[in-house]
Amino acid sequence: MKGLIPAAGKGTRMKPFTKAYPKELLPVGEKAVIEHAIEDLKNAGIEEIVIVVGWKQHAILDYLGSGKEIGVQLTYVVQDDRNGLAGAVKAGEHVIGDEEFAVILGDNYVDNKKSMKDIVNFHEEKNMDATIGTFKPDDITSYGVIDPGENNIVKRMVEKPSKGEAPSNIAISGMYVFKPEIFNTIEKIGRGKGDEYQLTDAIDKMRQNGSKVGYRNIKGSRIDVGTPERLREANREFDLR
Ligand code: G1P
Repeated sequence: MKGLIPAAGKGTRMKPFTKAYPKELLPVGEKAVIEHAIEDLKNAGIEEIVIVVGWKQHAILDYLGSGKEIGVQLTYVVQDDRNGLAGAVKAGEHVIGDEEFAVILGDNYVDNKKSMKDIVNFHEEKNMDATIGTFKPDDITSYGVIDPGENNIVKRMVEKPSKGEAPSNIAISGMYVFKPEIFNTIEKIGRGKGDEYQLTDAIDKMRQNGSKVGYRNIKGSRIDVGTPERLREANREFDLR
């Protein structure tokens, strides 16, 4: 299985740092947050990884290089139009090919290093078409939210709902596993929340088309370093691990 890490976003909530470099290079403990994401994939046995770059892309290449130093094989693809997470995943299609693949967002810090492996195992054992790693956040409105059904099957999902619209308190963590059909499905969605092409909408469309979309609560805790406060929190978590 290959891995894909979207790391193309402008990180507007993380200004002024992201005026100079992408948020994926912000430090959590002794390394950039994207290196933690790579480690999570590596611990799941995934060493061929596609990094989708865009904003301040050269800084990511300078930091990670070929990946040799950290024991992985990296391929970079460029997302020209930064029009959402679904577009970032789609940009990697020609490298991933017709295979299952795991995704972890490049700004995700997870303290349990077996978390991705657990999601991949679940996906394979249950023969899912897509699996979403989930968690329970403090503020549900900042995330994609699922409506959990029986046997870990997702009934519905909504990207960044208002408090009243949220179908549950279970959020999308930024760790996923997909069958390649996600690529064709992305082509069929329109712009969603924030006028962007949302991955959540594409997964929900797969589900509507009859695909088996599962969810698995992630092991340990996770934080995306999307805001300065969350970056501080990720570093506090790192010190406590
Ligand atoms: C993205 C996804 C969202 C998910 C979140 C996890 O949002 O669109 O569904 O819950 O990552 O970090 P973003 O934080 O990029 O706006």
